[in-house]
Amino acid sequence: MATAQSQAVRKAIYPGSFDPMTFGHLDVLERAAQLFDEIIVAVAFNRSKGPLFSSEERATLIEQCTAHLKNVRVVRFDGLLVDLVRQEKAVAVVRGLRAVSDFEFEFQMALMNRKLEASFETLFLTPKEDYTYISSRIVKEVARLGGDVASFVPGVVLEALVRKVAEVAR
Ligand code: PNS
Repeated sequence: MATAQSQAVRKAIYPGSFDPMTFGHLDVLERAAQLFDEIIVAVAFNRSKGPLFSSEERATLIEQCTAHLKNVRVVRFDGLLVDLVRQEKAVAVVRGLRAVSDFEFEFQMALMNRKLEASFETLFLTPKEDYTYISSRIVKEVARLGGDVASFVPGVVLEALVRKVAEVAR
């Protein structure tokens, strides 16, 4: 017989700047969506990073890219990740690890978050190897300089990126 515990919805949060979402992000999200009942993609405002897209634009793009994933919800957040985890009663936070170079920062964040909330668990997932060199920062740079980024981002993001780059250049 199913217990109350086993019936509980196991939620995880996938936080990030997603400025904008790439195929690497999407790959990690698809993997996470198979492991948990619900994934909440949490778009950080991250004003200090001077994002190209507003948090609203980033969230809308993610919603469009993930319409095929029925257990994914997108939220925006502006505070501490631990507070969102508590609010959503999530059991874990998912982060993508592309290379060893990502590790130091990710390890620091995972331990800081656990210091802030003892029950905080970070789960690292690796994207498909084809995507390990892709980052939003490099994609934006290539797009700004007129390069073709069609193989790095979903179609809706590509259209938005081309539009935004032209708008910013005006
Ligand atoms: O995609 P990014 O920019 O690597 O994502 C970083 C993010 C948003 C996950 C991180 O900056 C974050 O958790 N920000 C929320 C503020 C917070 O909780 N900071 C302390 C965590 S160490």
